[in-house]
Amino acid sequence: MQDVTNLPFMSVIQRYGGPDYYVTEYFRVHADYSLEKKILSSITENQTGKPIYAQLIGQDIEALVRVARELQHYPIAGIDLNLGCPAPVVCRKDAGGGLLRKPQQMEAILSAMRDAIPGKFTVKTRVGFHKHDEFTGLLDIFKRYAIDTLTIHGRTVQERYQTPVHTDCIRMAVEHMHCPVMANGNVVDVQTGHGALRLTGAAGLMIGRGAIRNPWIFEQLRASFAGNSPTRVTRAGLLDYIGNLYEQIASHTVDFDACKHVNRMKKYMLYIAQGIDEEFEYRIRRATSPEDFHATCNDFLANNSPLPECPPENSKLFCGFDALR
Ligand SMILES: Cc1cc2nc3c(=O)[nH]c(=O)nc-3n(C[C@H](O)[C@H](O)[C@H](O)COP(=O)(O)O)c2cc1C
Repeated sequence: MQDVTNLPFMSVIQRYGGPDYYVTEYFRVHADYSLEKKILSSITENQTGKPIYAQLIGQDIEALVRVARELQHYPIAGIDLNLGCPAPVVCRKDAGGGLLRKPQQMEAILSAMRDAIPGKFTVKTRVGFHKHDEFTGLLDIFKRYAIDTLTIHGRTVQERYQTPVHTDCIRMAVEHMHCPVMANGNVVDVQTGHGALRLTGAAGLMIGRGAIRNPWIFEQLRASFAGNSPTRVTRAGLLDYIGNLYEQIASHTVDFDACKHVNRMKKYMLYIAQGIDEEFEYRIRRATSPEDFHATCNDFLANNSPLPECPPENSKLFCGFDALR
């Protein structure tokens, strides 16, 4: 995830179990593009012990092929093509989710990249641009290019992040694709993880926002799949996670400035604070110094009461996940 799944974030969530594999933030590929050092470091300095896929976004075929070839000199598990980003600036250039409304161009990219990538080539898509009934046509295209895994964020580009997911589309992909299909969207706890698998029949889950809020989610799901009780996270556990995130991200920041760092932390805290306490959210949003930031965290989290397992269903950043139960 852009500005989220960087090297320090991955190293922190790995301490709490981490996923089976990681995907980098996307490399924004264009004609005279050279690999961004910061994103590249999440591959070259990856110490999580887990494989990492390099994600590319773009629409320039030659550039995508060149970058895909270049990345093969690095320790990656494979190359992932982003066909889901809904940002208007990306879609306007017919990249990311914008490519879903340009099937011919998308097909040309898939074909060229498949030919250029001898190892794993995976795709992350949404279920359409305007409507989810576009998905059958998209699946026909994906099927033609022998991709190794298809990860589906079960919303259209226009639905962005705030609706229930179209689990029926993911199930259709599971039935029609010749590769493993991963279900993505709205998994926020163990129950929604089980629900997403039950409703889609997918081979696995990709978890985004839910992992920022609760990095234990991967370990909790693994425990639950193995028939064990998932660990219950306490507020003190969350305080430990926030402290680690604060330190790790600070240690990777060039020209560190404490107040700017507090602002940097807020993009993670937006997700973490959901459902804890309105006053906590309010004070974190207004914190301007490290002292304010840490005092607020300590005031609300330095105790052993259990955290709510999921965020509020109607919160701005998480909603629609009850449909997965
Ligand atoms: C801040 C943010 C950044 C994201 N960046 C990326 C990205 O770089 N590549 C990608 O494939 N998806 C990206 N996504 C989408 C997520 O990977 C995921 O598909 C989406 O949030 C739905 O899954 P979730 O409910 O588990 O978060 C991003 C999402 C958010 C909220």
